[in-house]
This record gives sequence, C-alpha cells and structure tokens, in this order.
Amino acid sequence: MNKLLLLPVLVLAGAGTWTARAAEPQTTQPEKSHEMVVNTSKRTATVQPTMYGIFFEDINYAADGGLYAELVKNRSFEFPDHYMGWNIFGNVELHDDGPFERNPHYVRLGSSGHNYKYTGLENEGFFGIGYAANAEYRFTVWARVPEGGEATLTVMLCDPSTQSERQQFAETRLKIDSPEWKQYEAVLKADRTVDRGTLRLMLRGTTPVDLEHVSLFPVDTWRGHRNGMRKDLAQALADLHPGVFRFPGGCIVEGTDLGTRYQWKNSVGQVENRPLNENRWHYTFTHRFFPDYFQSYGLGFYEYFLLAEEIGAEPLPVVNVGLACQFQNKTGHAAVDELQPYIDDVLDLIEFANGNPSENRWAALRAEMGHPEPFGLKFVAIGNEQWGEIYPEHLKPFVEQVRAKYPEIKLIGSSGPESEGEKFDYLWPEMRKLGADLVDEHFYRPEKWFLTQGNRYDNYPRKGTKVFAGEYACHGRGKKWNHFEAALCEAAFMTGLERNADVVEMATYAPLFAHIDGWQWRPDLIWFDNLRSFRSCSYYVQQLFACNRGTHVLPLTMDGRVVSGQEGQKGLFASAVIDDNRHEIMVKVVNTSSEEQPLSLRFDGKALRKGRAYEIVATTFTADDPDGENTLDQPERYIPVTGAPQSIAGNRFETIVTPKSVNLYRIAL
Ligand code: AHR
Repeated sequence: MNKLLLLPVLVLAGAGTWTARAAEPQTTQPEKSHEMVVNTSKRTATVQPTMYGIFFEDINYAADGGLYAELVKNRSFEFPDHYMGWNIFGNVELHDDGPFERNPHYVRLGSSGHNYKYTGLENEGFFGIGYAANAEYRFTVWARVPEGGEATLTVMLCDPSTQSERQQFAETRLKIDSPEWKQYEAVLKADRTVDRGTLRLMLRGTTPVDLEHVSLFPVDTWRGHRNGMRKDLAQALADLHPGVFRFPGGCIVEGTDLGTRYQWKNSVGQVENRPLNENRWHYTFTHRFFPDYFQSYGLGFYEYFLLAEEIGAEPLPVVNVGLACQFQNKTGHAAVDELQPYIDDVLDLIEFANGNPSENRWAALRAEMGHPEPFGLKFVAIGNEQWGEIYPEHLKPFVEQVRAKYPEIKLIGSSGPESEGEKFDYLWPEMRKLGADLVDEHFYRPEKWFLTQGNRYDNYPRKGTKVFAGEYACHGRGKKWNHFEAALCEAAFMTGLERNADVVEMATYAPLFAHIDGWQWRPDLIWFDNLRSFRSCSYYVQQLFACNRGTHVLPLTMDGRVVSGQEGQKGLFASAVIDDNRHEIMVKVVNTSSEEQPLSLRFDGKALRKGRAYEIVATTFTADDPDGENTLDQPERYIPVTGAPQSIAGNRFETIVTPKSVNLYRIAL
C-alpha cells in the first residue's frame, strides 16, 4: 500500500533556529517494519560534554587568510622575500633595525625626486582582499618620520580590476608627525563589494616616512575583538556547539624539522613582536604549492583560548614531544636527555592557561593580554602522529613531570598516523602502560571503511585509557570530496562512537577550514573565499550530533543486536541517548542503503509514562544526489530538514526511513 503524506517542515537555519519551508511529499507505507527498541530505563554510558568537537590546524589558509581576520599579507615585511605580497613603486628601502626585536624589518618611503612619480606600496592580500559594501575597515600602521618634520600617507582601498574612473573607492590621509615609532590608525568604509581588492599606500610630499606592521582588519570581527577573527567563520564554529577544541595541529606541531615546529611561546604577547614561522603546508604537496603561506601567529594561543571559551569548548592544545615529523625525519629529533626545554614548554603552557598572574610570568602575560581569570585548561595532548619506540621513550618524562605538578590535567597520547596495523597495535599498550588518559586515533579512510567500522569500539576495554578520535573524515573515491555520501558514512560511523561513549570521550573531524583558492587537503568541514563561506554536508552531520549529544546512552537494538550496519541490518546504523537537561530522548538512525526502510521505533522502560501522549520531532538530512555537495553559490543546497511534531500512540513510532539519510527523532519527556 502506498500512501502520500504531506508534512509541513521546518528548516535548520543555524544553531537552534528553525524556519518554515514548504510542505514536501513523503511516500510509501511500510510492508514489514524493522523494529528498533530503545530501553529508556537503562543507561549504559555517560556522554562526555567533550564528545563532539573541532580540530583547528593552519592548513588550507585556515588561519592567515582565513579565520584570522587580518587582510594584509606579510604585514611586517618578514617573509624571506621581504616584499612578497607587496608591489612597491618609487623610492622604497628595506631596513632591519625596527622597533620589534623579533620582526626587525620595516620599509622607508622617501621622495622619488620627481613630480608625478610617486613612492608607495600596495598589498595584494591573501588571494586579494575581500571588501564588503558598507563595511568598515580599520587600518593601523607603526610609523615615524626618521628625519623629523611631518609626512602624509594616503591610505586607499582599491579595486584594481575596475573599469570605472578611480580604482580607489575609500581613501584617507594620515599625518605622521613623530620621529619616534607610534601606532597610527584610520577607519575606512567600503562603498562597494570587491572580492579581490588591494590596499594601497602613497607618500605625499617629500618627507621620508618609516612603516612597520601594516595591518587592515574588518571592524566587525567576531565579538568585535581587535586582532580578531572573521565573523562568519567564527560563527560557523560557534554554531557547531563544539565540546572540545583541539589546536594547533596536526603536522605543524611537529614541524618539518624541530626548528620549524609550532612554539606556543612565539604566538603570545604583543602581536607585532610574534616571530614569523614557515608553514609546512606551503610546500608539503608540490601539486598544491603555495610559496606565500607562512604563520604570522596573529591567531596564537591567547586568541585560541579566548575563542574556545567564547564558543563553549574545552581547549585541548597539542604540544611537541621533541620529535619532528616522522614522515620526513629519520634523525633530527631531540634526544631523551635534551627534552627539558620541551617539557618546560608544556608546564609553562599550563601556567599560561591556568596559573596565578601574581605567581607566574606566563600567567601574568595572560592577564596583561586581557584575561586575568584562568582559562580552565583540563587537557593536553603530547605529540601528534608519532610512532615507534622513540615515542613512548620521549613521552615518559613529559607524563612524569606534568603528572607530578598538575595531576588534574588529562593527558592524551597518540596511536600513530594509521587507523589500525602494526604502529597502532604497538602504541595502544604503550599508552596504557604510561597511563595516558586518552589515546588519539586518526582515520582518513574511504566509504567502505566507515561502513564496516560501526562497531569498532564495541569490544574495546571499558576501563582505563579512553579514545579521542582526533582526526577523521571519509575520503571519497574518485573526485568526490565533500559530497553527501561521505557525510552519510561519517554519520553511520558516529552512531558507533555515540553508542560507545563510555570508551570514546571525544571526536573531532579534520581538517576544519579551507580557502577555495588555497587548499592543500580536502575534504574539509567549512569552505570559504574572501567574503563568503559555506558549510559542507559533513558540517551538518557534525552539528546534528553535537547539538543532540545527550547526557547518557540508552541501549538500542534491532532483533536483539546493536544497529551498526552488520550482516542482515540492511545498512542501518543507530544510537539512542537521553538528555537529563533537555528532558528528551534522541534517536539517530542512519540509512546508508538506497532503499526506503520501514521503521517501528519502540520505547520500552520507564521514561515514557503509560496513558500520556508524546510527540516526536523528526529531522532528516538527505540529498537528491549522493555525489552532490554544498558550494559557495549554493551554500544550503543540502541541509537537515525538520518536520512538525507528530503524535505517537503509546510507546511506538512508525515511520519510513528515506534512502541514504541521516535521521534524528526527538521525543520530549
Ligand atoms: O589534517 C591534516 C593532517 O593529517 C594533519 O596535520 C595530520 O595530523 C594528519 O596527517
């Protein structure tokens, strides 16, 4: 029997907001339903608030050129090619005795000696500078008149590609009148949208002027912070409601060699004096080569802790364990007896996050930067994708010293770069021996892997060291990347994480961000260009799980078995949780098959009272084409759709699960 049901639907328009959308048809009535049974009286595990989180690494221009809202590239003239990103004209000289010790270079603009021949410079930004109509931009520069007098600098926001009379569409003049270095500032308003603009500076007159740390930010950053984050991208993170925030890598923690590893101490303090580091993603792939990709550390550890706090996520920094990237280095690691400076970096980082400003210089720096209260750091990961005997040997002294001083901090070790195999099998027992609180597992694997790993954690030991699925993404076959099917496979797998929340305490998809013109690695969760961004199908899966995490796992079975895509389960995956704060039961059912699947969802146990009427709200995430994906032009082509509440008779809900769909059923108690 076929029946056509017309249901009014609501559309997820951001965290917690739902908008009405036209009714859509639903088809077919079940012939024979799969019966899934939720036992509402038994709680098998506590779901940690950290369960679903985010992992940020400066890859794909995620920081400079991305989340970090600075629009000027090479603002301190410290790139190895000091004028990279700049066009210079007239009489421009490079000097290296500037006011910032760790970024000593600056430029001197002098008279060109001719009328109508100007001295100046122009910055191309990261893939151009994006200007939005009516938005304001804050220009700042450190400057001085080295020979005294008064110089005038014209600051212009330009659109070099325009055919109109003037390339500049906003302009202001700054008087530089001090022979001492001083910061000058001006706010300019764009009167049009330009996606690949420039910033042009011109010297007027003949008085020489020195310029250092030339910066341009949108005034409207995330939470209005100076040195802040791009608002749409930070909002996308906030809308995920992440429980945990891993940072800053990834491979960049290790460095191509130890000299280029991420050193958090270089990323804090006055932003003008944070030394530049290379970014290994500039050259790691010669087929995606970006010679202008460096780390300014403008988005450093202070900004990270602050953002984590503001979006409600527990910070989880990753620190170097004295090993350079093992893919690229057989030697060049620190010897075990040379590890103390690396260990001190970890101890000092804990102080920077949590210490008392009157007792510790790193805590005092945090207070000076604007946050006297502690950030409440609870986790530290030591090492990224390390492997072999060298790793536990190195990790041991870190564990001993951090434990001795900060027993409350949970420590996370690595299981290597692979999801299984020799390296993985060796490291897990080693991590247990060292008493790691969690072990970080990484899997960038194809669809098939995700579909056969729904029960990966069912037989993990329930006691002792827990799992942090710290980097994962379904890497689709062929040219498919952030397509719907990849997100579907991730959702199927995530039901297995959730069912095993007593073992898996956190999970973070990777990588997080990618600039459409500057990516090195895909798929990625959030894509952007200079002005726009979109959230991938995988993003919506992450959001659906994170916003409906629950507080405890409830047993859910089909024919007496957990639902993890096993033989005879027709590609169905499912998990159920109860939320003691929201007073809701939430069931997630993922149908990875191409068939409609009739489903009868039965709620046994005490949570649903006899004789009382209940309603279910169903959200479905599906796509007309499993290879389809969201794009900058169609950012919401695929988003979860929520229907109107439906009454259920007694303790049973009958429905039909759409082919290839992720479904959430919420029942308010
Ligand atoms: O997420 C991209 C990279 O993948 C990370 O830097 C690394 O940890 C892993 O190999």
